[in-house]
Amino acid sequence: MTPRGNSRVCVFAVSFCLFSGVLTGFSSVTDRRQTVSLSGKWRLTNGNGSVSLPAEVPGCVHSALQQQGYIQDPYFRFNDVSYRWIAFDNWTYTTTFTASTQLRTKQKVQLVFDGVDTVATIWLNEIIVWKTDNMFRTYDFSVRDLLKDGDNELRVSFLSPVLYASERRKAHSAYRVPPECPPDVQKGECHVNFIRKEQSSFSWDWGPSFPTTGLWKDVRLEAFDVLQLLQVSSVPLYSTKICFKSFFFFFQSSQVKLWWPNGHGDQPVYHLAVGGFQDGFLILNTKSKVYFRTVELVQEPIVASPGLSFYFRINGKPVFLKGSNWIPAHSFQDQLTPAVLRNLLQSAVDASMNALRVWGGGVYEQDLFYSICDEMGIMVWQDFMFACAMYPTEDDFIQTVREEVIQQVQRLKSHPSIIIWSGNNENEAALATDWFSIPVSQRPLYLKDYVTLYVNNIRAIVQEEDQSRPFLVSSPTNGAESEQEGWVAANPYDPHYGDTHFYSYILDCWDWRNFPRTRFASEYGFQSWPSFSTLQPVSIKEDWSYTSNFTSHRQHHENGNQQMLLQAGLHFHLPNSTDNLKRFTDTLYITQVMQAQCVKTQTEFYRRSQSEIIEGKGHTMGALYWQLNDIWQAPSWSSIEFGGKWKMLHYFAQSFFAAVLPVGFEDDDTLFIYAVSDLTETGSFVDQVTVYSWTDLDPVCTLKSDPLPVPGGSAAAIFKQPVAALLAGCGRCTRLTCLLTFHLEDSSGQQGPTNHHFLCSPKDAQGLQRPNITVRHIVQEDKTGYTVTLHSASVAPFVWLDVGNIPGRFSSNGFLMASRNRTVSFTAWRPTSVAELSRSLTVTSLRDVY
Ligand SMILES: *[C@@H]1O[C@H](CO)[C@@H](O)[C@H](O)[C@H]1NC(C)=O
Ligand SMILES: *[C@@H]1O[C@H](CO)[C@@H](O)[C@H](O)[C@H]1NC(C)=O
Ligand SMILES: *[C@@H]1O[C@H](CO)[C@@H](O)[C@H](O)[C@H]1NC(C)=O
Ligand SMILES: *[C@@H]1O[C@H](CO)[C@@H](O)[C@H](O)[C@H]1NC(C)=O
Ligand SMILES: *[C@@H]1O[C@H](CO)[C@@H](O)[C@H](O)[C@H]1NC(C)=O
Ligand SMILES: *[C@@H]1O[C@H](CO)[C@@H](O)[C@H](O)[C@H]1NC(C)=O
Repeated sequence: MTPRGNSRVCVFAVSFCLFSGVLTGFSSVTDRRQTVSLSGKWRLTNGNGSVSLPAEVPGCVHSALQQQGYIQDPYFRFNDVSYRWIAFDNWTYTTTFTASTQLRTKQKVQLVFDGVDTVATIWLNEIIVWKTDNMFRTYDFSVRDLLKDGDNELRVSFLSPVLYASERRKAHSAYRVPPECPPDVQKGECHVNFIRKEQSSFSWDWGPSFPTTGLWKDVRLEAFDVLQLLQVSSVPLYSTKICFKSFFFFFQSSQVKLWWPNGHGDQPVYHLAVGGFQDGFLILNTKSKVYFRTVELVQEPIVASPGLSFYFRINGKPVFLKGSNWIPAHSFQDQLTPAVLRNLLQSAVDASMNALRVWGGGVYEQDLFYSICDEMGIMVWQDFMFACAMYPTEDDFIQTVREEVIQQVQRLKSHPSIIIWSGNNENEAALATDWFSIPVSQRPLYLKDYVTLYVNNIRAIVQEEDQSRPFLVSSPTNGAESEQEGWVAANPYDPHYGDTHFYSYILDCWDWRNFPRTRFASEYGFQSWPSFSTLQPVSIKEDWSYTSNFTSHRQHHENGNQQMLLQAGLHFHLPNSTDNLKRFTDTLYITQVMQAQCVKTQTEFYRRSQSEIIEGKGHTMGALYWQLNDIWQAPSWSSIEFGGKWKMLHYFAQSFFAAVLPVGFEDDDTLFIYAVSDLTETGSFVDQVTVYSWTDLDPVCTLKSDPLPVPGGSAAAIFKQPVAALLAGCGRCTRLTCLLTFHLEDSSGQQGPTNHHFLCSPKDAQGLQRPNITVRHIVQEDKTGYTVTLHSASVAPFVWLDVGNIPGRFSSNGFLMASRNRTVSFTAWRPTSVAELSRSLTVTSLRDVY
């Protein structure tokens, strides 16, 4: 659908027939209501009154205890276990406030809680006004008649979330709702599926168990006379049924420009003024942002392939989704600052990502998250918050979920960034592939619960509230095929349908044959350790070894530390310095090298598979690796460390997600190079291959392909040659002594990054030497910008610059240095100096760790 219209000022009163398409604008209409904020300092006490302290609202118990000095940093060393008691206690938040007579003469006075985490009884002046049970809901109550002169007391008594979950489990005696408990290695709490709370707060395979408690969003009183609440969101403009009496929409535009994902165009915003009249006076007046775009999820038959396609069309254009998965960026959401949020999303955009999946085991993110995604062109795949579990379907559970879903869809549907809703994370797969050993005879029971929750309730609500974007019941799923099979497919990982999640830590990640050629890869990844500077503030000297208690404590994935070394050992010599600290930091480095190379190989495989069908599989249209960010300082699949430092993987993503990318791989001893283009127009590219010997910085030979027209949004083979012939033609080269770099060019020069292909594992390479890289100079270019010039004596793979705890980012890092000199820039996020950078800078390359 193409929006039309070009009037300067449009007044929408009765009909919206001027445009077709979907108006994704939102107006939180403020009227002459009087608002009294009740956020700020409250009093917090534990169950028996032995602990009493001031506490900030919005906030949580852990943050308050830490701010008041009752506990250390919960992330320090083993504190997640030491502070386990906090989640077993009951906590009460209390405040007093005055409500003026003038406020109490309004017709309505509402007490509004934007977020209550989680199970609480709310008392106003010793009268119970409500009981809450869902972190993802807002709660509001009419309280005018309960307010009095002078001090009013508001008290929120929380029940331990761990205790509540376990009680709910006990009450559900008819059959179990697995998993009962997380694996021991996660050191977490049980039965999180029985409480509507961030599921990963009871621990996850990348995160600690901190089931905190508190008023995690704002609290306020709202007083008004006539309720004239109008919410405008996702109003289908082609509908003529919408009519607002006394409301007017003033819409200013010369021509409607469309919102595009990052890399495909701009994100033009329109400002919508909303006004209304009462008794001849304009009583409502607000401005809100409006964007225009359409989205379709295309699932239709493909020539030469069984199954169905699975791709997104934005404004009519097929778009390959490039990006990652988002998890909660902090265990204590009140400590997540707007600056941190913005920096993470900026990092995604700066790595050419156009999509993030907000994963279903965390939280529905705050408004700012989606506003930034709107601004930056990040498409959001939004899960509902259910993950890796079966869920109960008692009436009160369903009721609170229904309320949660209605509220969240109404809150979020105005954001153009959100392009799809998905009912849950991996619960179709959990049921289909029997993660929880459910007896065959009981399967129908669980299937019924599954359909009740995600189809009959969540899907039904979404279809009623928001028809402007697609809904999937689960991720991964076979989509339309799952629906055909009664909502749970026999194999939700089928590469011929829908999206897939794929993990293997044992198979060689350098061999693309080990990856499923899926329609859409919504999860895949490998773990690595964060850098030493990230671990240092939460550890002490005795922790700094790969075999320390600390190192195994922070690893929440069974055998994770061993798997990283096994995978790294397939291609690299493992660090073996006799200096313990160096061996530790070298090991952190080698895990990052392994992860970066593995995710690069897999992502490049998906991108080059977008235009092909091979053995019935292909047309891959999405690559969202697991995972973008971290919740604490620990090993995980993330590409960005807690604190914002980029791992090597994130620097690699800058290249492997580039709009124009050459991808090299071997099939049957033949070297193929594909040109992948996300451009809009066809480009005519030439591929240049340069062969280097490991011993020499001067190229051995250079080859060029014929020019190839590559249509925008496609991948095509641009170079093909048997490796033996290529090496023979080049002279004095074998697989062990040489390596390749390659890039694409058009008439205006190089397009996209220079890529490389190793002809053997670097551990077998003959002639790979210590490159003795030296820092020639560091120059300050402007307030925050510095350049670092390196000199190398030989070819050096995976050159890694690290400035310790000076926060900031390099222009590139982890690169293959195949030149004597190389200059990279560094942008500091706080004031620093050439002297400080010189002192802090270390340079490590592959040959330096053994
Ligand atoms: C009060 O509760 C705390 C935390 O649960 C506990 O450590 C303490 O012993 C209790 N004190 C009394 C007097 O019961
Ligand atoms: C928390 O409250 C529940 C319900 O009143 C009670 O059973 C439990 O003992 C309390 N726990 C603590 C630590 O006070
Ligand atoms: C590691 O933890 C175990 C069990 O808590 C303890 O016995 C051992 O002394 C610790 N080792 C070190 C090196 O701290
Ligand atoms: C690096 O320095 C070492 C020790 O001085 C030397 O043996 C080696 O040849 C140097 N590497 C290169 C590539 O020059
Ligand atoms: C590399 O830098 C050094 C010193 O800065 C300079 O002398 C040399 O000419 C440079 N080499 C190349 C190939 O640019
Ligand atoms: C470390 O490993 C390399 C490669 O296997 C080997 O050549 C070297 O001797 C080892 N060094 C030590 C100190 O064990």
